Amino acid sequence: MDRLRIIGGTPLFGSVEISGAKNAALPILFASILSNQKSVIQNIPLLADINTTLKVLDALGMKTLFKLENQVIEIDGASLNAHEAPYELVRTMRASILVLGPLLARKRIARVSLPGGCAIGARPVNFHLAALEKMGAHFKIESGYIDGFAPQGLKGAEIEFPFPSVGATENILMACVLAEGKSILRNAACEPEIVDLAKALRSMGAKISGEGTPTIHIDGVSSLQAMNHAIAPDRIEAATFLCAGLITRGKITVRGISADFMRSAIDHLKKSGALITEGKNEITAEYSQELAPFHLVTEPFPGFPTDMQAQFMALATQSRGKSKISETIFENRFMHVPELIRLGAKIEIKGNEALVSGPAALSGATVMATDLRASASLILAGLVAEGETIIRRIYHLDRGYEQIELKLSKLGAQIFREKDK
Ligand code: EPU
Repeated sequence: MDRLRIIGGTPLFGSVEISGAKNAALPILFASILSNQKSVIQNIPLLADINTTLKVLDALGMKTLFKLENQVIEIDGASLNAHEAPYELVRTMRASILVLGPLLARKRIARVSLPGGCAIGARPVNFHLAALEKMGAHFKIESGYIDGFAPQGLKGAEIEFPFPSVGATENILMACVLAEGKSILRNAACEPEIVDLAKALRSMGAKISGEGTPTIHIDGVSSLQAMNHAIAPDRIEAATFLCAGLITRGKITVRGISADFMRSAIDHLKKSGALITEGKNEITAEYSQELAPFHLVTEPFPGFPTDMQAQFMALATQSRGKSKISETIFENRFMHVPELIRLGAKIEIKGNEALVSGPAALSGATVMATDLRASASLILAGLVAEGETIIRRIYHLDRGYEQIELKLSKLGAQIFREKDK
C-alpha cells in the first residue's frame, strides 16, 4: 500500500491540465453495454475506478481494450454474454450498480450484488429499483444480490424521482433509451455528468432532450449503434486544484474546463477572497488577500457539490473567522474532520453542520484517508501545514484523482508517494 508524504509551506504556481471526469466516465463506460457494436471512448482518466469498471465489463463477457498512451478505451458490445456484476467488484465500486439499467434494457435480465453502505452514508438504491419496476422490471433480492427480470422488455414510463439522485437518473436514462415508447424523467439530476452521458448516448442514436434540466424526455429506439465520445473534464479535480492554489497563497490555472461546469464552487472561491479569471477553456484562481470565512450548503447541481465539501473545509481552516459548512446530501460525510483536527484545525460538528474557526496554524502529522474527497482535503491541509504530513490509505485517492502527486509536484508542491509499511 502507498502513502503520501507532504512537506507543507510552498506556494503553488502554474497551470495544470484537467483530466476526464471520473463520474462521467463510469456511467458512459457502462452505457457501452447498450450496443452490440464497438464503442470508442476518449479522454479516459487513469484511475482505479476505471480499472474496476473494465473488470465489471469483462465479467459480462465484453472485450475491452485500454490504449493507455492516448487514454482511449474500445469496448466490443457484440461479446456481451453474461449478466452478473459480482460482489467482489461491486464491493470495491458502488457505481457498478449502473449495469442494472443497461443490462435489463438489452438482455432483459441482470444480477448485481447489492451495494452496501460506504464511508459517507448508507446510499440505498431504492430509487433505481422503483423506477425500473415502473418500466416493467421485477426484482428478487436474496443472498445479497439483486436479480432483475424484464421478460417482456422495458416499457417507457413517466418517472418522478423522490430526490434528484445522480446514479438513479443515469441508470434510468440508460434503461429508457432502449425501452419501448416514450419516457419522461422528472426531478432528474442536472449534474454536468448527466449531460455528458446524454451526449454519449446520443452519439449511439439515442433520442433524448432536456438533459441538464429536471425534466428529461426520451423516445426509446429498438437498437443503438457504437458510441464515439470523449469524456468531459472533471470539475471536482479542477476545483480541488484551484483550492490548492488559494490555500498555499499561490496562483493556479486549470486548463481544459469551462467555469460553467463549476459556477457554485467558483462563487465560493470568490467569497473567500480569490481573484478569479475565467478564460474560454481555463480558469485561474490567485491568492490576493487574507482568506475570508464563508457559509456553504451542499446541494444537487447547480448548488455546491458535496464532492467539494471536504476540500473547502481545508480552505476554511485558513480563513479568518468562522465558516459554516452544511452537508445535506450524505449523512456521514464529515469523516475528514477528526483527521483535520489532528493537523491542528479547529472544527466543531453539530449534526450536519461543521463550524470551522480560522486561521489555524496547522502542523504536519500522520493522518488516515477515509474516502476519496477526504483524501483530497488532507492533501490541501498538508500543503499548508508546517513540517511533514503523512497521508495513509491513499488507495481512496487513486480511485478518483489522476496522478495528483505528479500534477501537484509540477506546480511546486513537495509531495512524494512512498511505500507504506
Ligand atoms: N439516494 C437514495 N436512494 C437511491 C439513490 C440515492 O436514498 O436510490 C440518496 C443517497 O443515499 C444520497 C442522495 O440520494 O443521500 C444522493 O445520492 P446520489 O444517488 O445522487 O449519489 P450517487 O449517484 O450514489 C454520485 C457520485 C458521487 C457524488 C454523488 C452526489 C458517481 C459515481 N458518484 O453518487 O461521487 O457524491 O453523486 O453528487 O457519480 C465521489 O466522486 O467522491 C462521489 C462520492
